Amino acid sequence: MCGIVGYAGPNDTVGALLDGLRRLEYRGYDSAGVAVLDAAGAVSVRKRSGKLARLEELLEASPLSATGTGIGHTRWATHGGPTDVNAHPHLGDDGKLALIHNGIVENFAELREDVAAAGIELLSETDTEVVAALLGIEVARTGDLETAFRAVVRRLEGTFTLLAMHRDEPGKVVAARHHSPLVIGLGEGENFLGSDVAAFVSSTRRAVAVAEDNIAIITPDAVRITDFAGDAVEFEEFEVQWDAEAADKGGWSSFMAKEINEQPDAVANTIRGRLDGGRVDIPELTELGDDVLRDVDRIIIIACGTASYAGQVGAYAIEQWARVPVEVQLSHEFRYRDPVLSDRTLIISVSQSGETMDTLMAVKYAIERGVTTISVCNTQSATIPRESDAAVYTHAGPEVAVASTKAFIAQITALYLIGLHLGRVRGTLSEEDSAEAVAQFEALPEKVREAVDTHEQVAQLAHWMADTRSVLFLGRHVGFPIALEGALKLKEIAYIHAEGFAAGELKHGPIALIDHGQPVFVLVPSPRTSPLMHSKVVSNIQEIRARGARVIAVVEKGDTAVLPYADDVIRIPLSDSLFDPLLQVVPLQWFALELSTAKGLDVDQPRNLAKSVTVE
Ligand code: M6R
Repeated sequence: MCGIVGYAGPNDTVGALLDGLRRLEYRGYDSAGVAVLDAAGAVSVRKRSGKLARLEELLEASPLSATGTGIGHTRWATHGGPTDVNAHPHLGDDGKLALIHNGIVENFAELREDVAAAGIELLSETDTEVVAALLGIEVARTGDLETAFRAVVRRLEGTFTLLAMHRDEPGKVVAARHHSPLVIGLGEGENFLGSDVAAFVSSTRRAVAVAEDNIAIITPDAVRITDFAGDAVEFEEFEVQWDAEAADKGGWSSFMAKEINEQPDAVANTIRGRLDGGRVDIPELTELGDDVLRDVDRIIIIACGTASYAGQVGAYAIEQWARVPVEVQLSHEFRYRDPVLSDRTLIISVSQSGETMDTLMAVKYAIERGVTTISVCNTQSATIPRESDAAVYTHAGPEVAVASTKAFIAQITALYLIGLHLGRVRGTLSEEDSAEAVAQFEALPEKVREAVDTHEQVAQLAHWMADTRSVLFLGRHVGFPIALEGALKLKEIAYIHAEGFAAGELKHGPIALIDHGQPVFVLVPSPRTSPLMHSKVVSNIQEIRARGARVIAVVEKGDTAVLPYADDVIRIPLSDSLFDPLLQVVPLQWFALELSTAKGLDVDQPRNLAKSVTVE
């Protein structure tokens, strides 16, 4: 939540900040602001509530004459509503310094007393302004931004990435991180700071991930990192694996549309290099040691939201192939239940961003208890994969739309690969089954492409249903998490009441919701590979149809059994049952996108949300 950018260099400062903010806007869009050192050597700020476009308007009406030092912020409001005054940057030291923040300062009430005691009057309701004021007090006392900054960050409790600059130290931006992301971009005669590499990828692909409880100091020609005590810390640079174009909308109507279309590539890239003849081999897991994997007697997948549904799908496959019990827990519930863990437990976290605070905290909790952790993550060098014992990256490319699509498909793919790797190492997977799964994987990108081609049909359906107030989704087995995902997508971007149910659960209560015309999507298992489940779901369809439901059935091509009972039929390619979710989900993604569009909503930036949830 919240995107932060810092710049030190000779080039267009406001341009660099705005470019970074545009690319980070998915992290929060309640307000935006920038601060620069202006031509007169003073700190100048422009900030505004609402999306970045409003700040851009303001800058056009009232331009800044920047001289090479600046910070920028796009906000997801925590302390204080999304107003102009609460927007970042905040000022300290009588306007001589500016500061931005991502996170929550939990002891801000106590710190505010110190600020009040110093006779400083705060203008906003934010925790951030308290930090800016404290930093001002320290700078006035020590006469040095870095010393003051270290003193202040040591006093803070909660989560934060902070960036600050001071009039008396032109060309310098200081930054600190504690449970919140921070990366450095290394340019030629210019350097950058950002919440993630998107902040500067259009200028440089050389990056450094700043570690927990470290401070980064950038100037145009140098980068230094220290710990909170001021001792120098060594760092390694890495190369960002994608370019700015990958994170551009291109000609698409929305990032979400672009990302749905990119799903065949997301699958192909996640598989690449991990299929070895008729078997799956994930080098990152081999490094972990076969003994460790053989010893595992229980797996817990931890994740939130869409990633948790990917985890639920993955759990079926891992259990089937690796014959080890798998449960899925929401990250934010996990550590509060005092979970039973042992040195034979394996934790697999799933996170697109690799920065979701709830998941990070759950992973840390497991690590502290000596549990082996694997991270399934889409973001290079993010905190969760760096903290984990092994990282199995999904290669979906940057996902910008708040509603996750291609990352979801890539997460399921990665979890399946992990299941197959485990099955091989543990000796629970026959060579025949392994070869069959590999063949399914090889054919998958093309089948996902066919599922993407349901767009036109689904778009029509969604536009007819633009006034729908509630939609239900039913699935069984691996179709159940897909029903949950279909419902989440709809809530998230079309603001419609939607619920996903296990089809078998219907008669235990939810069937009372069925009334005349109630739309129900039903994910129908394959009659070829799951005949028993297929017939049960067809019975469920008859039950809801008899009560007036409008049935939209997602079926494999050639399945005619549901035709007499379905109002609409969406056909997906034939595959093995375990692989059906990767195809079934695609029309549900399109449906959410098109319904959101039909309602005139912002598909990519739904209200109240942000892509990366870095607060608990
Ligand atoms: O970055 P993560 O995968 O950890 O994010 C987890 C959830 O916040 C995320 O999947 C969320 O549910 C999506 N916006 C759903 O589309």
